[in-house]
Amino acid sequence: MANDHPRIEELRARREQSMLGGGPAAIERQHAKGKLTARERIDLLVDPGTFEELDPFKIHRCTDFGMSEKIVTGDGVVTGWARVNGRVTCVFSQDFTVFGGSLSGANAEKVCKLMDLAMKIGCPVVGLNDSGGARIQEGVVSLGGYADIFLRNTLASGVVPQISAVMGPCAGGAVYSPAITDFILMVEGTSYMYVTGPNVTKTVTHETVTHEELGGASAHSEKSGVAHFRAPDDASCIALLKRLLSFVPQNNQEAPPPGPGTDDPNRMEERLDSIVPDDPNRPYDIREVIQLIVDDGDFLEVHAHFALNIVVGFAHLGGRTVGIIANQPQILAGCLDIHASTKGARFIRFCDCFNIPLVTFEDVPGFLPGTDQEWNGIIKNGAKLLYAYCEATVPKLTVITRKAYGGAYDVMSSKHIRGDLNLAWPTAQVAVMGSKGAVEIIFRKEIAASDDPAAAEAAKTAEYQARFANPYIAAERGYADDVIEPRRTRPRLISALAILETKRDKNPPKKHGNIPL
Ligand code: HXC
Repeated sequence: MANDHPRIEELRARREQSMLGGGPAAIERQHAKGKLTARERIDLLVDPGTFEELDPFKIHRCTDFGMSEKIVTGDGVVTGWARVNGRVTCVFSQDFTVFGGSLSGANAEKVCKLMDLAMKIGCPVVGLNDSGGARIQEGVVSLGGYADIFLRNTLASGVVPQISAVMGPCAGGAVYSPAITDFILMVEGTSYMYVTGPNVTKTVTHETVTHEELGGASAHSEKSGVAHFRAPDDASCIALLKRLLSFVPQNNQEAPPPGPGTDDPNRMEERLDSIVPDDPNRPYDIREVIQLIVDDGDFLEVHAHFALNIVVGFAHLGGRTVGIIANQPQILAGCLDIHASTKGARFIRFCDCFNIPLVTFEDVPGFLPGTDQEWNGIIKNGAKLLYAYCEATVPKLTVITRKAYGGAYDVMSSKHIRGDLNLAWPTAQVAVMGSKGAVEIIFRKEIAASDDPAAAEAAKTAEYQARFANPYIAAERGYADDVIEPRRTRPRLISALAILETKRDKNPPKKHGNIPL
């Protein structure tokens, strides 16, 4: 067989060099830490044979600290486009084997070029992060590179979905790129995110913590809520990322991709008729309600370990992607607190940006009382959830399963804030507060004056309960569009989603609103 032209041989040799990143020893060290390389991660993410790399020959231009002798083709980040689940996706993957995946000026240019492309063609950007942060030898050039990326993250926000998998270190200001993106996934044990590491923490606050305790996947998925998902290893993290992508549209002008749509849209679930306990103080698992209603019981929970008193996530109903927000009576009786409010608000805003209808399941006794909540700003944080629901123009469906009390009734996608279809189950109680609390206030004097205050209170509570603890007063006023047999919830929601496909609604023209941050 004739040899190929030397120019072709040279190209192949150069490409091979670029493919090696930091070289075999560094790749071995990466594997020894339980981490895959940048290219192995891309291979797992993309449909086979679809990755088209950009800038594989890019090199850094730093000459300080002997850097001109240390050139690695590709310079520590692999960028390109590919198909993921058959759909075009732009991907960058930081290569820890090259200068610890640190961000150089050249490296940032590659990421920015990719993001600009994603914005032009309207496709998601996936970032696989594994980096020691700013390329220390490059100083301010690296900081400029970060800012160039932050600006693009911000401009792309709400235009194309942006998803970050943190699969190694992500420290200092570098955390702010993932933080601006829509979703963060972290790998347990090998990833961490923090603004300042354990050493600086020790010096400043005298706290002794490990990387993992300070900024590992558990810390961010349970305590801070910075991470939306966590996975035990690189492969399962990428699998989760692919599943997440399967629910989101390519950009803000497209509809989300359809699900399989094979589950019977008219499926009735008798179990729903008795799932809400007769005793209003007894909990039940709202996730069971969700699973019984959505297509094939398939629910991708977002923030599954954070603010458990509210449940949010993606599912399909009759093949259409929906975003579900549900109070969880099992935790804090489903009360809204600061974390639940911000968790719900951010999810709602993502769905509204990307044309994903909202389905709300409501069982909420109100906002959580206490100095902790008040002093940490439940007022402004609860307002975020209210604001997010009010401004959302996607189809909004609400099912009141039990309590819809007080301000929380208004907040949770009520009719008054542009709910398109608000259904109530017969177990619903739409009221200003629980019967006992109401009676203690309005009949306080009467009860105190009675010969048998306990009996008087019980009688008044029963009276109040009979009058207000039901869905019919709300239904009489049109605040609930209908009271339905719970088993019929799935068909009713699917039929509403079908007619709302042509929904048109918009907010007044403005530069942007001023959500209470
Ligand atoms: C240049 C870096 C680097 C960096 C790591 N390397 N981080 N090179 N700039 N930021 C190099 C190391 O010198 C080493 O090169 C190789 O990458 C692998 O690093 P190791 O230290 O051997 O790996 P490991 O033991 O796993 O430790 C990982 C690490 C550590 C914890 C991330 O490397 C580290 O602390 N790096 C510095 C982190 C940091 O302070 N970065 C700047 C933060 S400030 P050799 O040649 O020995 O293999 C910042 C500001 C951003 O990022 C601001 C944005 C607005």
